[in-house]
Amino acid sequence: MAASQDTSAGGWSPALTLVLVVVLLAGALFGYDQGVISGALEGMQKELKLSATLVEVVTSWVTLGALVGSLAGGELADRIGRRKALLAAAALFTAGAAIEALAPGVAILVCGRLVVGFGVGVAAVAAPLYAAELAPAEKRGRLVSAYQLAITIGIFLSYLVDQAFAARGDWRIMLGVSAVPGVMLLIAMLPAVESPRWLVRMGRRDEARATIMRARPWVDPDVRLASIEASLRNEPASSSWSEVFAPMWRRPLMIGIGLAVFQQITGINAIIYYSDRIFKAAGFATPEAQTQATTWAIGAVNVVATFIAIAFIDRLGRRPLLIAGLVGMFVSLTAVGLAFLAIGKGSASPMLGTITLAALVVFIMSFAFSLGPVVWTVINEIFPGRVRGRAVAVATAVNWGAAFVVSEFFLTLVDGIGESATFGLFAFFCVVGGVWIYRQVPETKGRSLEQIETLWQDSPQVPPPVRAPA
Ligand code: BGC
Repeated sequence: MAASQDTSAGGWSPALTLVLVVVLLAGALFGYDQGVISGALEGMQKELKLSATLVEVVTSWVTLGALVGSLAGGELADRIGRRKALLAAAALFTAGAAIEALAPGVAILVCGRLVVGFGVGVAAVAAPLYAAELAPAEKRGRLVSAYQLAITIGIFLSYLVDQAFAARGDWRIMLGVSAVPGVMLLIAMLPAVESPRWLVRMGRRDEARATIMRARPWVDPDVRLASIEASLRNEPASSSWSEVFAPMWRRPLMIGIGLAVFQQITGINAIIYYSDRIFKAAGFATPEAQTQATTWAIGAVNVVATFIAIAFIDRLGRRPLLIAGLVGMFVSLTAVGLAFLAIGKGSASPMLGTITLAALVVFIMSFAFSLGPVVWTVINEIFPGRVRGRAVAVATAVNWGAAFVVSEFFLTLVDGIGESATFGLFAFFCVVGGVWIYRQVPETKGRSLEQIETLWQDSPQVPPPVRAPA
């Protein structure tokens, strides 16, 4: 599903602004629903008397829903179109938020979490696809990166809302608030244009032409249509699932899956979800102090450091950012592990709380300029056009699967082996991930999608690369 190469420089239209708004809202909702649980758990646990297992279920089942949603999202976006898939995601976000906020008990609450998660998964596949297909080539990178930035902004906003309601422990408002941007996304999607590329693929050429004239009035619509048609000729209408797993694409698939797994098993969402609890264990006594630390040390730093990646990803390259980030994550996780070792030995002091706080800031910063945005960039560029949609959906689903395992078992692990060994384990995975990336992941900076395809030619039976029209 490579968006065709179109180098015609041009302006910006109201229709493209709407695409940007949609992408930002979808990303922000994704982030909000990821982050909000961190501050909501305390009040929820008090009101609903949740056991440790139920706390894990309430936290992590969003990810389970997202896993299924991302697998379904690729199919849905192909069948009903990118626009309607995003409309469906917005409806799911809104309905899920209402179910969560009004849930009379834990069973309905978990259903709400699953519905929200399903929406997150559909949006996680459909939004970058929608942005990539509608953006002019020279603006594509920035439009797609805007999605990751919006995720971090959503997480930050959720922490701000958590903070505002922490004293009252009002978890229903914290979860329910996401219905507002959900409705905003629904409203924004109504006048939004469909992807012309999808319309051409469905044989709706006239609508595609009208859409191009609205989105990019400065290009000749017939030239653009011809370019889309030519590039679609190189992609069979439907590739089968078995082609995604064919030996010739094993290497990019392993790289996509490996990156998706390492992004999660190095601990990011344990920190995003459970940061309040980590700060509590590190000596931050009141819920206000905990959410304050989470909001600024985790939420704000995550947003700011994402700009570092946007500035350097095309200059320094993917590999240096990934390796540097993993070094920073390793050092900070080791420091958190050692601080908890000291706390466990009874030497709790404000000093240890400060060390934990500083180490978590380094961790989130290192993640935000490396594994956060770079993993998604590489996953979206390593697959050949004819398997890209499904292969990206597989890597995304594996990412959610790994996120689910980490968030589901984090508290169990902490109970079983303690905080310090748990952070030690995350640090160990940083080393394994760093070595694996150094040996396996090629640099893709500055290479066209066709050049990237040639990287896999030492694998068995790789056909010559398909050239997209200029
Ligand atoms: C990851 C999410 C994570 C977020 C944090 C994303 O790239 O996929 O799992 O919560 O970054 O900013």
